[in-house]
Amino acid sequence: MFPAALLFSTLAVLANALYLNESPEARSSQQVKRQSTTKYVVAHHIVGNTYPYTVDDWANDIELASSHGIDAFALNVGSLSWEFDRVADAYKAAQNSGTNFKLFFSFDMTALPCATAQDAAALVGHVTDYVSHPSQFKYDGLVFVSTFAGESCTFGQSSVVQGWQTQFVDKLTGSNSIYFVPSFFVDPGTFSTYNDVMNGAFNWNSGWPISLTTDTYISGIAAMSNDGHNRAYMAAVSPWFFTHYGPDTYNKNWIYLADWHLYPRRWQNLVSLRDSVDIVEIVTWNDYGESHYIGPIEGAQPMSEAWVNGFDHQGWLDMTPYFITAFKTGSYPTITKDKIYLWARPHPRNATASDPVGPPTSYQLDQDQLWAVVMTTASSTVTLSTSSTNSKTFSVNAGLSLLNIPLTPGGSMSGTVTRNGQTVASLSPTGYTFNPNPSSYNYNAFVAYST
Ligand SMILES: *[C@@H]1O[C@H](CO)[C@@H](O)[C@H](O)[C@H]1NC(C)=O
Repeated sequence: MFPAALLFSTLAVLANALYLNESPEARSSQQVKRQSTTKYVVAHHIVGNTYPYTVDDWANDIELASSHGIDAFALNVGSLSWEFDRVADAYKAAQNSGTNFKLFFSFDMTALPCATAQDAAALVGHVTDYVSHPSQFKYDGLVFVSTFAGESCTFGQSSVVQGWQTQFVDKLTGSNSIYFVPSFFVDPGTFSTYNDVMNGAFNWNSGWPISLTTDTYISGIAAMSNDGHNRAYMAAVSPWFFTHYGPDTYNKNWIYLADWHLYPRRWQNLVSLRDSVDIVEIVTWNDYGESHYIGPIEGAQPMSEAWVNGFDHQGWLDMTPYFITAFKTGSYPTITKDKIYLWARPHPRNATASDPVGPPTSYQLDQDQLWAVVMTTASSTVTLSTSSTNSKTFSVNAGLSLLNIPLTPGGSMSGTVTRNGQTVASLSPTGYTFNPNPSSYNYNAFVAYST
């Protein structure tokens, strides 16, 4: 076996192990099972990317998310005052939507100040504004509140725990009481020190096999179940990760491995672990800067146009209800329509571009492969093709199949599903070339699907 193939298969084994058997998430057997309680799927919505939104734009997002089985948006808010005007519009749109769609705050503690008691009072004020709103997401009858980070916030107190406890949680009592599920980036083994602060944990980094990068954060959650608290567990699922900002802007330029069909495989993983998972948060609806949006490209991008425009991801949204149904009910729905989904990056991983930002950290993990998902109502023949001379035919059973073939420099992507000599689904998207000579680095995915 030559080295490239060896590396390829080693990564495949690693990815298999990581995606399909995420033992860090398994809870101990003493843990109270929650399979009888209602499960929820929510999506992370970056309010910071909604500056031009009207109530109608919110209504469109809510209709689209709701019709795909998503229960709520986690409204990621930072420190810009206009963001709270958009939040008000979002709540208005949800209330008028004629759906049961809900909203809750996900305070972005990397953007919001948290050094003083007044900083906490501002958060308490935002929560209080919506406690009795009919579209407020509640869990166990309590107002649901989440965060991104916050593990360094003291709010002027002697410790992080004291800060969150005395200045935030304890200020929200009676009918204002909250169910607080932050994504503190700490060792889950320390959760017991957060005692009455955390009602649950949101494991943000569980969306990607990030240990295949130089990052050493351990996303394990097992310790949580052993500290005597029956906390809710909110898991992340994400389809992709690529961000490409130079030092002159946000200085973020890396990928997380998302090959090997990360999105459907992570969902399959969560379905198999559903007894231990209470809520799934899709990361994200609209984070264009990190390329993990599944909603439409709209609003105001955070200077991410170079790697986002032309790279619609709604194929991932389209396949989402299949997994949500399985997560919520324990059974995958019967497939009633043959469908094909294809995605790939726009240039070889080793391409060189005259791009001052340089290639993203960890780009070497990526494979030059076309990733395909087919949903078939019965046994079928699937043909994938990336050029007139590179195609492969597969026999698949009814259900969901994950397939891939190598990309061809200068080629494109297409796929067909046939049965009894008839084409039952086909896809040959325009607007995609696997370009060996890109003018800038782009490790985002072009996603297409048959309708
Ligand atoms: C990319 O470059 C690396 C290092 O030179 C090499 O090992 C690898 O085979 C190349 N990959 C592809 C897909 O060309």
